[in-house]
Amino acid sequence: MNILAIESSCDETAAAVVQDGRTVLSNCVASQIEMHTIYGGVVPEIASRKHVEAVTGLADQALEQAGMTRSDLDAIAVTYAPGLIGAVLVGVNFAKGAAMALDLPLIPVHHVRGHIAANYLTHPDLEPPFVCLCVSGGTTAIVDVKSYTEMEVLGGTRDDAAGECFDKVARVLGIGYPGGGPMDRLAQGGDDSRYELPRAHVAGHELDMSFSGLKTASLNLIHNAQQKGEELSLQDFAASFGRAVSDSLVPRAMAAARMKGYGRLAVAGGVAANSRIRADLQAACAKSGDKLYLPELKYCGDNAAMIGCQGFYEWKVGHVAGLDLNAYATRDI
Ligand code: KG4
Repeated sequence: MNILAIESSCDETAAAVVQDGRTVLSNCVASQIEMHTIYGGVVPEIASRKHVEAVTGLADQALEQAGMTRSDLDAIAVTYAPGLIGAVLVGVNFAKGAAMALDLPLIPVHHVRGHIAANYLTHPDLEPPFVCLCVSGGTTAIVDVKSYTEMEVLGGTRDDAAGECFDKVARVLGIGYPGGGPMDRLAQGGDDSRYELPRAHVAGHELDMSFSGLKTASLNLIHNAQQKGEELSLQDFAASFGRAVSDSLVPRAMAAARMKGYGRLAVAGGVAANSRIRADLQAACAKSGDKLYLPELKYCGDNAAMIGCQGFYEWKVGHVAGLDLNAYATRDI
């Protein structure tokens, strides 16, 4: 089963060919980051236009790298939600055109399901059920992955996503966009208890989180230091911030794993690349005895291989769409 997968939900256009769900034959990503950096964040209109320019060439490139022609394909999978609506629409329309022209099934894939599936690409032994901590620029959720296609959100952020929080704070510090990677690198060797930052609790909802208070407290701390002419240690601040994010995510992910008792915990999404979060999860799982699954760094950020992987499992249970498939900015997992 050779699936051509397309991903265009935010600022990366991606195309991949995936065989039988788990074998990646090609994985092409065209990042627009450089384009958006000058604005300090993703400009939706620019993102959509860049997707339009890139998607056809990238799909051809993915086929070429896989050593295939169009006639070798068995299905087209595409991210249909969630994301920037204009951006998602580009991928969906391209996929619809390809499915119609090649007379192939069209498989709609939820972006966060794709991030979860990135773990199947890295870990051939991983099968549901397991608990997955999904942390990206737009999502922060703890998901009960009951089967390849049945999922339930156990908890998540009530406001900002963890990645968004990294990005906003990094922008104010002037250390680039997207900010998670630079903040992570900056934090190496820093004193993580130098700056006091809040950890929010959502009363009565053990697995829910909130990052808006951390974001505001961080922005205030930076602003006050600037106002008073005090020197802020970027290294210590980044380490304190990374610790605060991890302190919100890791104990809740562990509580969910304990609650479900599957003995398997996975992590997914761009923020899953964070070294502090990875290290804290590794330490917590070593203690609890849960097996921890971390996706390879190349599959943490947006890519189409993960969409092709999840697409295979969606197709297996008959989750295919007609040419009336729509794109959605938000959609339950
Ligand atoms: O999964 P992704 O590429 O796109 C979405 O689906 O949102 O995630 C992007 C997010 C950005 O917020 C970025 O700052 C964050 O992942 N990120 C990181 C790291 N690398 C990327 N956050 C913390 N530490 C990192 N090393």
